[in-house]
Amino acid sequence: MSPPYGRAIFHRLNRAISDVQTIETSDALRAMIAAWRAAGEGIALVPTMGNLHAGHWELLKVARGLAKRVVVSIFVNPAQFGAGEDFAGYPRTPLEDAEGLRARGADVLFMPTAQVMYPAAVQSMSFVEVPGLSGELCGAFRPGHFRGVATIVCKLFNLVQPDVAVFGEKDYQQLIIIRRMVADLDFPIRIQGVPTVREADGLAMSSRNAYLEPAERARASQLYRSLREAESAIRQGDRNFRALERQFLQRLEERGFRPDYFSIRRSEDLEVAERDHKSVIILVAAWLGKARLIDNMKLELR
Ligand code: PAJ
Repeated sequence: MSPPYGRAIFHRLNRAISDVQTIETSDALRAMIAAWRAAGEGIALVPTMGNLHAGHWELLKVARGLAKRVVVSIFVNPAQFGAGEDFAGYPRTPLEDAEGLRARGADVLFMPTAQVMYPAAVQSMSFVEVPGLSGELCGAFRPGHFRGVATIVCKLFNLVQPDVAVFGEKDYQQLIIIRRMVADLDFPIRIQGVPTVREADGLAMSSRNAYLEPAERARASQLYRSLREAESAIRQGDRNFRALERQFLQRLEERGFRPDYFSIRRSEDLEVAERDHKSVIILVAAWLGKARLIDNMKLELR
């Protein structure tokens, strides 16, 4: 596994950016954290895979409101990509990311190499597994994905030891799995969710939107439209969730998507939704060309 960013990039980053410190080793990170802790300063962590966009900036804004110090991590985590997935082609824009972080005021950009995060062979290292939920929805289509996510987030939590960590609701299943891991393993960390940031036409912001051809991009907002239509059906009293799921899978196909799932779940724990549940969430994952898009919409019912 070769490091995704060349060493020269780090030197350029640290020269170009004065008030965001770019750190690539765990020792340097721990030293920084220890100094903040000694000064009694609170710490927020925003884990990312980079190629930062308005969704990530919103997380940073929330993090800044929650703690004096903010660490943003950028690591394209090989362990959460399956064989044949887009690890190699995942968009990497470290200079633009660092410049955006400087402009918006993060304290540290932690950008470790794969060697720093995974010094041992990935096959022989310890993993964190959140059972059950990790095999459903996205997990059913991306075996091992959430194990990779839980493990890297656990490692980042141990390195940064933040008071609070900020995650987007766009990746709702990821958020619930992280909350579960934190509860199960007694991490003294508050998990803050942030509502999805969207493009003007409703498409959820995502680094993977860059994979869309122009004609696909024009059609992509229909994913959000489908969520709105399902929401409206439920609000009008339709509680036949399984029939709605089937109907909207078909509708997505008619609209040119290749859906992985369209599923209505209980918001708090992603149990399959039943008609008496008070808070449900509609979750969707669908392919459009080379892009796998995910989105969701939460509904409070009375
Ligand atoms: P990444 O896809 O870069 O997303 C980093 C964080 O930004 C996640 O918490 C994600 O939910 C949030 N995010 C992305 N798009 C968003 C949007 N449109 N609105 C609001 N928040 C958004 O998720 C990951 O990276 C990785 O799995 C990670 C947690 C870093 C572990 O490797």
